[in-house]
Amino acid sequence: MHMTVIDSAITDTLPSHIPSNLVKAVDYNNDPALKIDPYLALAPLHDGPPIFWNPLNIRHNGLGTWDVPRASYMREILADQATFSSKNCAGFSALIGESWLMTPLEIDPPDHGFYRNFLNPLFSPVAVKKMDERIQKRAQDLIDGFKDRGHCEFITEFARPFPIAIIMQLLGLPIEELDIFIDWGQRLLHGESLEVKAQAANEIHIYLKDRIAEKRRNPQDDFISYICKTEVDGRRLNDDECMGICYLMFVGGLDTVASSLGFQFHHLASHPEHRKYLIENPKKIPAAVEEYLRRFSSVMTARQVTTDIDFHGVTMKAGDWITLVQASTSIDPLEYENPMEVDFERRHRHLAFSFGPHFCLGSHIGRRELNVALEKILVQLPNLRIKPDSSVITHGGAVFGVAHLELEWDS
Ligand code: HEM
Repeated sequence: MHMTVIDSAITDTLPSHIPSNLVKAVDYNNDPALKIDPYLALAPLHDGPPIFWNPLNIRHNGLGTWDVPRASYMREILADQATFSSKNCAGFSALIGESWLMTPLEIDPPDHGFYRNFLNPLFSPVAVKKMDERIQKRAQDLIDGFKDRGHCEFITEFARPFPIAIIMQLLGLPIEELDIFIDWGQRLLHGESLEVKAQAANEIHIYLKDRIAEKRRNPQDDFISYICKTEVDGRRLNDDECMGICYLMFVGGLDTVASSLGFQFHHLASHPEHRKYLIENPKKIPAAVEEYLRRFSSVMTARQVTTDIDFHGVTMKAGDWITLVQASTSIDPLEYENPMEVDFERRHRHLAFSFGPHFCLGSHIGRRELNVALEKILVQLPNLRIKPDSSVITHGGAVFGVAHLELEWDS
């Protein structure tokens, strides 16, 4: 089972600097093979050129993108923000006619450093340690909801609500609105049309705008209040800056952790020997989390070329977009020996949290959530397995993930 990679015959609509031998049409959203195993579907990309032009991966300039399956090239691109800018790389505000940028993701250095210096301490290992009790409690509450039943649909009952609840608590938003947040996240990242995504982007924007105004008037002990009232370099952040930061917090921790949890528990439920090993060797759980992050890296990031260049023999023009598809860079055979194999002894050098200045700000929270989920579920549901006759459904898109995963265990 491999994804269909069609060599495009329609070369006359291509920008003039794109050579036809570098064109490959890959549909990361709708190819049916992505619903079965997105990594297996993308593995054949490593038999082709390490950079190719994908006319199906359309950006807001109406053109396709340079797609990069090779991990070492991805690292080079992410490290060089002067040549490869992240401005508008997510593009949610442009989708709804706004001009704020998702901050700090869509801000290039040196301005990027201003925001990171201010935000880093709030997401440090020490800060995350203070959240630990809440993370543990939220995981346990969700497990208690299905433990005695002997089965669950893991994605809707754990993988999605767990990280979103943590983000909502961090931001200081009412947990009763959890289902609304989950729905927004699904429509924004996986809506079937641009209109559906724009509608969700707009609803989130209106909601966050109201919360920012409210917390400016009546600050509480939470993240939104903190960023609204704190002075940075002698000034307060303005409404657009607060919106850009809050929006990114909402999107950043949403699907990423849920996706990792889905792939991780799908693998554990179908590999009893790995489960047994981790139950007997709980100290190996952090290493297992890193290997799962590598094997099932899920985020698609983008950069825009700022100047005409030759990149490893490929002519790129200022304005071209590049897509970094982690689902293929994470299984690059030049980077990892036996890349499809899950090996808890592997040395960690994955790109799941990106690389360079935009290295994930929430990595410590994400890692802690993944570790807590493994620690708790393996002990309490040691013989969990995929429910017979159920289908596991995966998906591609902005963040690759698992859409449906029915698990059962002896209760
Ligand atoms: C397993 C979980 C996670 C994964 C795999 C992940 C992945 C990533 C990736 C790949 C990037 C860089 C994107 C780019 O370079 O274009 C990123 C950036 C970011 N992530 Fe995460 N993330 C995770 C969890 C979180 C969480 C829980 C939060 C929030 C609490 C978060 C907040 C952010 C922020 C704010 C940035 C932007 C950093 C910057 O631009 O300096 N992430 N993440």
